[in-house]
Amino acid sequence: MSTKLVVGNWKMNGSLAGNAELLGEVTKSAGLGCEVAVCAPFPYLMQVLQILPPRSGIALGAQNVSEFDDGAYTGEVSARMLSDLGCSYVIVGHSERRSLFHEDDGTVGRKTRAALRAGLLPIVCVGETSAERNDGITLEVVTRQLDAVAAEIDGLDVDQIVLAYEPIWAIGSGLTATAEQVGEVHASIRTWTQRVFGSEVTTKILYGGSVKPGNAAELFAVPNVDGGLIGGASLVARDFLAICHAAAGD
Ligand code: PGA
Repeated sequence: MSTKLVVGNWKMNGSLAGNAELLGEVTKSAGLGCEVAVCAPFPYLMQVLQILPPRSGIALGAQNVSEFDDGAYTGEVSARMLSDLGCSYVIVGHSERRSLFHEDDGTVGRKTRAALRAGLLPIVCVGETSAERNDGITLEVVTRQLDAVAAEIDGLDVDQIVLAYEPIWAIGSGLTATAEQVGEVHASIRTWTQRVFGSEVTTKILYGGSVKPGNAAELFAVPNVDGGLIGGASLVARDFLAICHAAAGD
C-alpha cells in the first residue's frame, strides 16, 4: 500500500500571524507518517515556505494557476512562477473555481497541462452536484471531467497527476459521502486511470468533502482512497494532525 497524501486547502483564509501559529502547531508534531502538503493563498506562499522546516516533509501547494505561460494576463499567476517559488503542488479545477469562476472542463484541462509543463504536481478535482447524483449520473459526470483533462495532456508526464474526488454537495457542508459512495466512485476513477494512463501508473486518488478527525479513518480505509483533500479541518492544527495520523494508520 502506498503512503497516503493529506493536502490542506486553506481556501481564502489566513493571515501572516494566523498562518505562523497554525504551521507552528502542525510542524511541532514530528514525523506525520504520511505525505502532507499545504495549499495556501498566493500572497502567503513564500511565508509558508519560509516557516516549513526543510525536513518537515510538508510540501507547498497553490490553489489555482493560469492556463497561460506568460504575458499580458493581469492578475494571473503562471505555473512557472509557482514552480520558481518552490511549490510542488497546485489544485486545479476545484468545484469553487468551476462554479464561482466559470472554469469549464476545457479550462481545467489546460490548467493541468500548464502545471505539468512547469513540473508541478496538479491535484485535479472532479465531482458531481447533488442534482447530478440524484439523477444517477455521478460516474458519467466524473468521467467527462477526467476525459477533458486527458484530452489536453498528450505527451506529458501523467505520473505527476493527483486526482481528487470531491462530491460538491459534501464540500464545506458537513455532509460526507458514505464509504460505499466513495468506494464506487474511486473504483471507477481507478479503472479510468488504468485505461487512460496505463496500469503501470499509480495515480493517487484523494477524497475531499467534509473530512474530519471523526470520519477520516473510515474514509481512508476505503479501497482506492489514497488520502484526502481537507478544507475546513486544515485550518485547525489539532484536527489536521488527527487526519494526518488517521492517514498514517496510527
Ligand atoms: P471541506 O473542503 O473539507 O471544508 O469540505 C474540502 C475542499 O473543498 O477541498
